[in-house]
Amino acid sequence: MDSLTIPRPDDMHLHLRDGAALASVVAHTAATFARAVVMPNLKPPVTTTAQAVAYRDRILAALPAGTRFQPLMTLYLTDTTPPDEIARAVDSGVVHAVKLYPAGATTHADAGVQHLDALDATIDAMARAGMPLLVHGEVTDGEVDIFDREAVFLERFAAPLLARHPSLKLVIEHMTTAQAVAFVRAGGPRVAGTITPQHLLLNRNAIFAGGLRPHHYCLPVLKRETHRQALVGAAVSGEPCFFLGTDSAPHARDAKEAACGCAGCYTAPHALALYAEVFDQQGALDRLADFASGFGADFYGLPRATDAVTLVREPAPVPEAFPFAGGEVVPLRAGGTVGWRVVDG
Ligand code: DOR
Ligand code: ZN
Repeated sequence: MDSLTIPRPDDMHLHLRDGAALASVVAHTAATFARAVVMPNLKPPVTTTAQAVAYRDRILAALPAGTRFQPLMTLYLTDTTPPDEIARAVDSGVVHAVKLYPAGATTHADAGVQHLDALDATIDAMARAGMPLLVHGEVTDGEVDIFDREAVFLERFAAPLLARHPSLKLVIEHMTTAQAVAFVRAGGPRVAGTITPQHLLLNRNAIFAGGLRPHHYCLPVLKRETHRQALVGAAVSGEPCFFLGTDSAPHARDAKEAACGCAGCYTAPHALALYAEVFDQQGALDRLADFASGFGADFYGLPRATDAVTLVREPAPVPEAFPFAGGEVVPLRAGGTVGWRVVDG
């Protein structure tokens, strides 16, 4: 198969930032994707429906003329998010999910949740409305080894949460372990998981290949090869609970190449080609359409896209960097090539 046409995909986990950074990156996603679930970890975070509506307007204003890209907005859950805010979010028609960052887990997560147990009324409002809770599934307990933080979160927090809220829709974002794959599979149709290109293509050796590689550092951090293989198996399985979410997370080059570098891989410009490489290696290109363009929309109760993009098997160079808010951002595979070119989109 040297060319593949699929419905225009959706990115169910994306960081677009704000201001000049937003203006630098949004066109990369909009060129290929129909919609994206936009993360709310701005500074200050997007905690209210009114803020989400205003942020959506800024995203739409930053799009190149004529683009039909639709941002799907999320709220940032805090210890004080009231059930009323969920009602406003549902009524708005533009907020599609709520994101749980355990306090301190990652970029701009300091305002995140410290006491999940105390949020049952708010989470119950989400369950009743069918609004998914998206989780950054890592404990922040410094005593837990960083490579175990996802598996421990699933046991300590995600499993009890599902038991307390039997109809809550839950997404384990950017899954990185075999334990997450098993957890999502066991959770039935109300639990899903997104998978990033970097967690499909790289294992943790990539962070240390010949020296420290800050552009391979993201959170949850890359895991060992057996986990990467479990994720690849999940992605190409054809099971509707696994779908595309890039977690494309741009940071300026100097914020990554630093004594204490930021977490995040920038994949938006070549994301679909990177996924196509994985599905091709597995002889599963026929399953890319559902993973990239079908299952995410289905889970969120949205119509599938009606227009299409075509991938052509042809090497495409990846630039060393892209302009980013007066500086530059280094994409995954910078200076290399990807094996597919998106010709329509
Ligand atoms: O690597 C990451 N970068 N993981 C996250 O959870 C957040 C993201 C960001 O916003 O930079
Ligand atoms: Zn993210």
